[in-house]
Amino acid sequence: MKLAILSVAPRAYSTQRLRTAALDRGHTVKVLNTLRFGIDLSGEEPDLQFRGKQLTDYDAILPRIGNSITYFGTAVVRQFEQMDVYTPNTSAGISNSRDKLRASQILSRHNVLMPATTFVRDRADVIPAIERVGGAPVVIKLLEGTQGIGVILAPDRKVAEAIIETLQSTKQNVLIQRFVKESKGRDIRALVVGDRVVAAMRRVAQGDEFRSNVHRGGSVEAVELDPEFEAAAVRSAQIMGLKVAGVDMLEGNDGPLVMEVNSSPGLEGIENATKLDIAGAIIDYIDNQVAFPQIDVRQRLSVSTGYGVAELAVHQDATIIGKAIGDSGLWEKDITVLTLHRGTQVIPNPRASTELEAEDRLLCFGNLEEMRSMIPARRKRGRKVKRLPKQPIHEG
Ligand SMILES: Nc1ncnc2c1ncn2[C@@H]1O[C@H](COP(=O)(O)OP(=O)(O)O)[C@@H](O)[C@H]1O
Ligand SMILES: [Mg+2]
Repeated sequence: MKLAILSVAPRAYSTQRLRTAALDRGHTVKVLNTLRFGIDLSGEEPDLQFRGKQLTDYDAILPRIGNSITYFGTAVVRQFEQMDVYTPNTSAGISNSRDKLRASQILSRHNVLMPATTFVRDRADVIPAIERVGGAPVVIKLLEGTQGIGVILAPDRKVAEAIIETLQSTKQNVLIQRFVKESKGRDIRALVVGDRVVAAMRRVAQGDEFRSNVHRGGSVEAVELDPEFEAAAVRSAQIMGLKVAGVDMLEGNDGPLVMEVNSSPGLEGIENATKLDIAGAIIDYIDNQVAFPQIDVRQRLSVSTGYGVAELAVHQDATIIGKAIGDSGLWEKDITVLTLHRGTQVIPNPRASTELEAEDRLLCFGNLEEMRSMIPARRKRGRKVKRLPKQPIHEG
């Protein structure tokens, strides 16, 4: 395959290792400076310029987008997606994982366990927020920190309040998170490639430091992961839309607590700790997937007017309980079931013979009008836009 590694650090260990691994396997590989792309939107088809010239064809890209260039970098990745070039990490996945709040919101929707986290804005809400996550000491985090910078342990309520106010006064948004004391300055970094963990290490913070980042002096050792840690890591990466990811987890009393999912995990620490060829595993994975360019399914499926994707819940008293999908009448209503969620299980492409149970959730593609009639009444609004009322704003 012909692969482009998008990176502004051609000399960095990770870039060099990925490049070497690709060359060793007989691929054509170029490291392209992410910041030298030009996104062309005027032509008939989505296109890219590189260093002022038309970019040649690539089969796949491997984005290594640093924190400081997220906006431009993800725009470049998005453009490759529009051009049907395979990328293991989608632009949406990179943006979503970059922002700690956004990532937590998405993960919590899918029952991934995380340290209790809250996000507030008004100073009057700060103290109740601290109490909600279990009281001081609490961890305060900048939304877009990395390498441990912007992660602070506040010993008591007063200090926490002062830190939060200071940061907010400089227009920085912060998360308030339960301090997971039982993890004792240690965390787990699992490297996910595709649908498995290819390597894992434990990082141990130095001295009385609680942050275990290698950049904060943390030491590393290879670990054999418990299946529940593996499952949490793979699931988190999958949910974020990342096929290459470093998932950070704390060892909580009740199992793994996912802290963050990194879309450009560093390879040096983990390759040294585990002596595994992780770069090679990443390249092999991309080579296997090249035929499947990333498609923004929701966008593509919503192109036909009146059609879209929706999740239908099978309620306790629904008449389709006990019926097979094929006999449920969905197909006649122009609705196709893409996946069936049952508890924590997900059944892709469920068979027509699959019987529906109460509490099942069906991810469907179909006629929106028909699907709307099957969603229990929540918000019903007239379709016509009404006239502005005589008294547009009420007193009090
Ligand atoms: N809630 C927490 N409880 C205990 N330790 C934490 C908590 N959050 C972060 N840490 C420690 O701080 C480190 C950095 O936090 P993280 O959220 O991964 O930020 P960064 O993106 O800067 O790496 C983690 O690796 C972990 O060692
Ligand atoms: Mg981290």
